[in-house]
Amino acid sequence: MKRFLLLIVLCISALAGVWMTIELQKSKKSGVIEAIDARRSIRAYKDTPVEREKLQLLAECGVKAPSAMNRQEWELRIVDNKEWIDACTADYLKAVEGTDKAKYMLTPTFKNIFRNAPAVIFVAAPEGGFSDVNIGMLGENIMLAATELGLGTCCLGSVPYMFMEQGMEKYAKMLNFSDGYHLRFALAVGYPDEEPEAKERDLSKIKFVE
Ligand SMILES: Cc1cc2nc3c(=O)[nH]c(=O)nc-3n(C[C@H](O)[C@H](O)[C@H](O)COP(=O)(O)O)c2cc1C
Repeated sequence: MKRFLLLIVLCISALAGVWMTIELQKSKKSGVIEAIDARRSIRAYKDTPVEREKLQLLAECGVKAPSAMNRQEWELRIVDNKEWIDACTADYLKAVEGTDKAKYMLTPTFKNIFRNAPAVIFVAAPEGGFSDVNIGMLGENIMLAATELGLGTCCLGSVPYMFMEQGMEKYAKMLNFSDGYHLRFALAVGYPDEEPEAKERDLSKIKFVE
């Protein structure tokens, strides 16, 4: 009986130890802080398609971001159709053939103009007001949620400019944003095929004011 009680006491102490360690870890870092540390811009992706439920979840995490006066002035379009992505890539390469833009794009591991991702989330908003702030928050929500799901992302500010090249207007039209909404950036999404080091951050930018 004594041995049995001793065993129970030992088990309870072991469990308490594990619980305390977990709580300590949690107090040091939440899931969000871990995702912030782990997020990188990913420019090499596996061909594995991203599950639609995950893309939907990412978009929903995006629109849960705060927005000025809760106006939610943003629209998202998700494209995971390989044929669409490949056709868009072919037309862009045709438009910029022989220029530095093509040279910059065509790396040895090149798959498509969306940094080789199998899925892209296009983000549009009206110009002016707080729209830059709003969509910035939306984008970061998506990227952090993606990190937590084991997905890589890359914010692509270049995409609206690519869509201005000759023959690219049709892709912008296909996104079918509402009147007054302009494509502002895209997010490449997919399963990462690289593990880049974190880029250094300049912490001297942060100052307390006494
Ligand atoms: C508004 C914005 C536009 C960006 N546009 C591009 C882009 O067009 N192509 C690209 O490869 N990366 C782009 N990036 C990714 C940055 O290059 C990247 O965030 C930066 O180098 C820091 O690296 P990290 O994201 O891995 O921390 C963009 C990032 C932001 C925030």
